[in-house]
Amino acid sequence: MNHISLRAAAPPPGRVSTVCVVGAGYVGLTAAACLAALGHRVHCLERDAEQVARLRRGQVPIYEPGLDQLLADGLRSDRLRFTTEAREAVPGATVAMLCVGTPPRPDGRPDLRQLAAAATEVAAAATGDLVLAVKSTVPPGTGEALELLAALSAAPGCRVDVVSNPEFLRESQAIDDFFEPDRVVIGADEPEPAEAVADLYPPSWPMLRCDRRSAELVKCASNAFLAMKISFANEIAGLCERVGADAVPVLAGVGMDHRIGSSFLGHGPGFGGSCLGKDLSGLIATAESVGFDPALSRAARDVNAWARRRVVDRLAALLGPLAGRRVAVLGLAFKPGTDDVRDSPALAVVQGLLDQGADVSTYDPVASAPALAHLQRDDPYLAARGAEVVVVATAWPEFATLDPVTLAGSMDGHLVLDLVGSLPPAATAAAGLELSTLGRGTPDTFHPVVVAPLEWCLDAALS
Ligand SMILES: NC(=O)c1ccc[n+]([C@@H]2O[C@H](COP(=O)([O-])OP(=O)(O)OC[C@H]3O[C@@H](n4cnc5c(N)ncnc54)[C@H](O)[C@@H]3O)[C@@H](O)[C@H]2O)c1
Repeated sequence: MNHISLRAAAPPPGRVSTVCVVGAGYVGLTAAACLAALGHRVHCLERDAEQVARLRRGQVPIYEPGLDQLLADGLRSDRLRFTTEAREAVPGATVAMLCVGTPPRPDGRPDLRQLAAAATEVAAAATGDLVLAVKSTVPPGTGEALELLAALSAAPGCRVDVVSNPEFLRESQAIDDFFEPDRVVIGADEPEPAEAVADLYPPSWPMLRCDRRSAELVKCASNAFLAMKISFANEIAGLCERVGADAVPVLAGVGMDHRIGSSFLGHGPGFGGSCLGKDLSGLIATAESVGFDPALSRAARDVNAWARRRVVDRLAALLGPLAGRRVAVLGLAFKPGTDDVRDSPALAVVQGLLDQGADVSTYDPVASAPALAHLQRDDPYLAARGAEVVVVATAWPEFATLDPVTLAGSMDGHLVLDLVGSLPPAATAAAGLELSTLGRGTPDTFHPVVVAPLEWCLDAALS
């Protein structure tokens, strides 16, 4: 179902509420537009005045399919308003959803300063009792900390409760995820504030109610598990290269087991985006802060660092020293369907190449990285002009339909390193290009891997 039919199919919530949504980024803007589509009155508080001005004009500042339509609907019906002023956004609201950023600090701990500032500002603007629903991803215990901060700034007589209501949306499918969630998690230590948040959602949606710390941990643990799955796939892909196997059928076969499932079991240049790495590091930091050893989570992070590093290592193995070599990187977004480049593996590849002195050009259909804007070209063939090697780093569907003959004609070399399995092998080879992929070894009969099983067979036969 696409978001339009989902929206039409979404049952109405228990009652219509006035909600303040704090932060109009990927999560906040999606939540605000979708809550308005459910019939709520939404006041979206965003500190960036330029962003608010654009949103009031109906311009979506991020790339998220379908969001422009919902924004237009919300503005037209006047159920969705934007402001930079807490004193306009908060009074009258029963719930304020905190959707501000919790970026990682250099040591991996989440930076909770935006959240603390938002909780303080919103609590200070409350003119009656208010529930803060925390959608931002936070370590367990944050709800208690925010409740203390809010109590310090709330006006006398105004009670501020904090409920954990973590967000699970995936960028590029955010609207579908909102209207058809796997679960809505509501964590609270008191029933009334939990009810106020639950009332925002249609009662038929799958709901998990629990205590606040557990709800906070559901989100971090889910992302750590997804990160672990990807790192496992990359570890198996590395092993495939060594034993002469092919990671594509191996991982397909593993994923066909319904107990395992195929999603997040693809190999490539590692996981990225604004959430997986950050939330994995956050979980590790939380565990370490209470003296618990998060061995699996740490291993997932280490394997991811290796998965990124090995791309540049592979290019150096194929080309020799990379200084001065012309490399085109196709894709900057951390995955297709989004313009988000936060912690993008594609950007890590570009940076790794620049660190080695390579001469890099890039292309992405929607994403850009301001610091690397001078490298960006307007189409993939321009990016490939004069390149010795083309690296496909994001699985945008348009890369699967590139014309290999035109690509080959633009390049000076003939090597393509496809990190995400986008290019059709036969057509690419027919254009005279040499296609290199990750996770595929040479299935040579005299491969060293045969030695150990042969010995073990002979041991058995001779004993
Ligand atoms: N992006 C995702 O896919 C995703 C998915 C699930 C959960 N999350 C979590 O949700 C949270 C938000 O993520 P995001 O990607 O939407 O972040 P974002 O950086 O895109 O958006 C945050 C917005 O909040 C605004 N803001 C910050 N402080 C403010 C304040 N005091 N008042 C008003 N506005 C303020 C910022 O200007 C910004 O526009 C993070 O904790 C993230 O981990 C993100």
